[in-house]
This record gives sequence, C-alpha cells and structure tokens, in this order.
Amino acid sequence: MKDPAERLDLEGLRALQLERLRDSLRHAYANVPFHRESFDKAGVHPDDCRSLSDLARFPFTTKADLRENYPYGMFAVPRDRIRRIHASSGTTGRPTVVGYTEGDLSMWADMVARSIRAAGGRPGDTVHVAYGYGLFTGGLGAHYGAERLGCTVIPASGGMTSRQVMLIQDLKPSVIMVTPSYMLTLLDEFERQGIDPRSTSLRVGIFGAEPWTERMRQEIEERCAIDAVDIYGLSEVIGPGVAQECVETKDGLHIWEDHFFPEVVDPLTGEVLPEGERGELVFTSLTKEAMPVVRYRTRDLTRLLPGTARVFRRMEKVTGRSDDMVILRGVNLFPTQIEEIVLRTPGVAPHFQLRLTTQGRMDALTVRAEARPDADAATRAAAAQSIVAAVKDGIGVSVDVEIVDPETLERSVGKIRRIVDLREKGV
Ligand code: DLL
Repeated sequence: MKDPAERLDLEGLRALQLERLRDSLRHAYANVPFHRESFDKAGVHPDDCRSLSDLARFPFTTKADLRENYPYGMFAVPRDRIRRIHASSGTTGRPTVVGYTEGDLSMWADMVARSIRAAGGRPGDTVHVAYGYGLFTGGLGAHYGAERLGCTVIPASGGMTSRQVMLIQDLKPSVIMVTPSYMLTLLDEFERQGIDPRSTSLRVGIFGAEPWTERMRQEIEERCAIDAVDIYGLSEVIGPGVAQECVETKDGLHIWEDHFFPEVVDPLTGEVLPEGERGELVFTSLTKEAMPVVRYRTRDLTRLLPGTARVFRRMEKVTGRSDDMVILRGVNLFPTQIEEIVLRTPGVAPHFQLRLTTQGRMDALTVRAEARPDADAATRAAAAQSIVAAVKDGIGVSVDVEIVDPETLERSVGKIRRIVDLREKGV
C-alpha cells in the first residue's frame, strides 16, 4: 500500500508543491530573522512566489549561513517545541545544528519508511541499522523510519564489527542499512570468520551517506547476494530519506519532492539548470517546521531526471561533492572516478585511499590500493600499471599508484575518508 502522495499524478504533485512552498516561504520569512533579512535584501517577498519557477528569484542559503547562525538562529519555532537536535559531522570548525519538532520527526519517519519500502523492505522485516547513532542523523533516522514501516529494528550502530557479524548470523535480519564502505568492512569480517556472506538472511541493503558507484553496487551484490540500493539525505534538509532508489529499477534516486523541492543550479553562476543538466543540487523544504530551509546549497553534484518507478523526479547517483573534488594540474578528479577504476582492476581489493602531496611546486596524487591476499608480485605490478594507465586515459592526469599489503589501509566504520591531504600549505 503506497501512501497517498505516491499516488498523485504530476499535476496534483505540482499543485501540492506550490501550495506548500508558499506556506513554507511565509513561515521562514515570518519566523527566522536570517530569512527575512535575506529576502528583503534580494527584494522578494513570499507573496511573489506564484509559480514553482518563481523560487529562482529567492536567495540561496549556504552552510556558512547556518554556521553564522549557530546554534539556534535558524529555528522558526519556540525552543519548547523542539523535540530533537542533530548535528552534521563538520570536520572543521563549528558543527551545523539542526532541530526537529514532533511534526518534523513524524514526517521524517514517514519518509524513511517510504524509502525502505521503495528499497524492497516490508512490514515484518527485521532491519539491522549499522549507521552510527548519535548526533549523526543516520542511525536514529533509519531507526524510526523502520519502526514506522512496521519492522523489527536491531539498533547495532557502527563499530564492533565482529559482533555485527554475530548479530546478523543469530538475529537473521533481511534488511541492512549502513554506509557502503562499512558494508565492505562487514563483508571482509564475514570472510575472516569463514562465513560465506551469500549465505546470510540479508536480502536488501540500503546504502548511503557517502558517494558510491555502480561498480561498488556490483561488488556488494555479488559478494553477498542482496539488492543494493542507494539512499540520500543530509542533516540540513532532514537526514536520510530525502531521496531513495527503487529496487525495481535501480536507476537513480526518486526525490520525495512532496516534502523536499529540488533544483539543480550552475555551481558558479547560481542559475537554475534545465532537467538533465549536471550541476549543484539545491533543496527547499516544503513542510518543515523547526528549521525550514530555503534554496539550501548542498554542494552535491548531480542532475535531475524524470520519474520512472514513481511520479517524483529522480536524481542521478551523486558522484561527488564540490568539496571532494581534487584539482590536479588543472584536471578535476573525484574519488568515485578512482573507485570505478580500482574496483575493475584484477588483483586489488575494493579498498583504496587517495594521498595528496606536494612534489616540488606541484600537487601530486598517489592512489594507494590494497592487494588481494592471493595477488603475487607480478599481479600487483600489473595492477599498478593498469591503474596508472586507466587514470591517464580516463581522467587525463598522471598519478602514482602504490599497491599496499592486504589489511593495511584504515577501514571505515561509518563515512569513509578517501582523501588524505599531506600537501604543504602556503607554498
Ligand atoms: O549523511 C544523512 C544520511 C545518513 C544519508 C544515512 C543517507 C544514509 P550528513 O552527515 O549531513 O547526512 O551528510 C550529508 O553526505 O550532502 C552528501 O554529500 C553525502 N551523502 C549522503 N547520502 C549520499 C548518497 C547524511 N547516497 C552529505 N550518495 C550529503 C552520495 C551522499 N553522497
């Protein structure tokens, strides 16, 4: 049984969005001084939004705006209506604090429940949640969504990998929700314990919180005989459950746009791009109470596509964030491009790291990939050569490749850090 919004036709959906958008802009303008000032400065008023395309006249909100209003400046309701706080990891400086009313928590649980269902989960399934619990939205977001759908939840959180394997063996979940990189760590642990990961009760994996490629999907699906689907979200917008890939098509992520209105803009000019063109994803919340966001710049790069399995538009798998882009001697490179190459190279495991250094006055990149346990010296040398050649041919830049011993690269327990930046600053 799909929820009513999933049964809307395109016309019904657009009408609902416009009504909600106007309310949401009014709510932000009336209750958040930041939005009032930025609308006034841009010379726009919520009443100016008469069609969905009018949204383009409204100002953007950036992560820096959220930081400047730390911790509670972006909240649109009195503090006693806030039921929960989460925060983004924020590797540098202040984290970004987000808040939820009871209504927001309920809408979020509905969206994650809808996501799990689209991924192939059903009421009565047991869901193993190995996203981290805490300020990160992954664990609790997945948890309440699975409960909302009517599933049994195993709140495993991240870490204690050998215990995770035991829990999966003994409690027999059919769905796992975890970052793709931590899934690889789990699969290695199954094999270390002499258990064939294809023999588990798992049927569906719902992977997100970091970019991952089609090659990674193949790797995971083959190694443990599950359907691997993508879930996307960000704390500022709600958490996981902003968009979800449907298991029947696996063709990009349907955005739950009855609650989160997407635009794709040119990252440099901010101009709205037509459907199908790649750029930066921007979200406006349509129903959030505690912290409405207006044209929030995600820095995630993707493109919008028409709906297939659902009426909602799709976003292509996020290949990277503008923040993760490495500019190497004038060539733009994303870690996912290296992932594609490493995962198709014989003799290397799906574990790699990108090390940036300064050589002379230039930046240099070393791809450090792990050898498979059975790879001999000749296989390793051939793998190194083949990665160098594939990067040169496919991306157009020269890199060094180091094939390291098995089990030597740091393993992920949550979001993986692909880039180790050892460049000398200020030279
Ligand atoms: O990562 C929320 C989440 C939890 C999503 C669990 C999915 C599953 P943040 O910590 O705020 O929230 O990080 C958000 O992570 O802007 C993207 O850059 C990245 N990201 C999230 N999902 C995906 C995905 C959570 N499926 C940031 N593919 C986002 C690629 C993703 N990148």
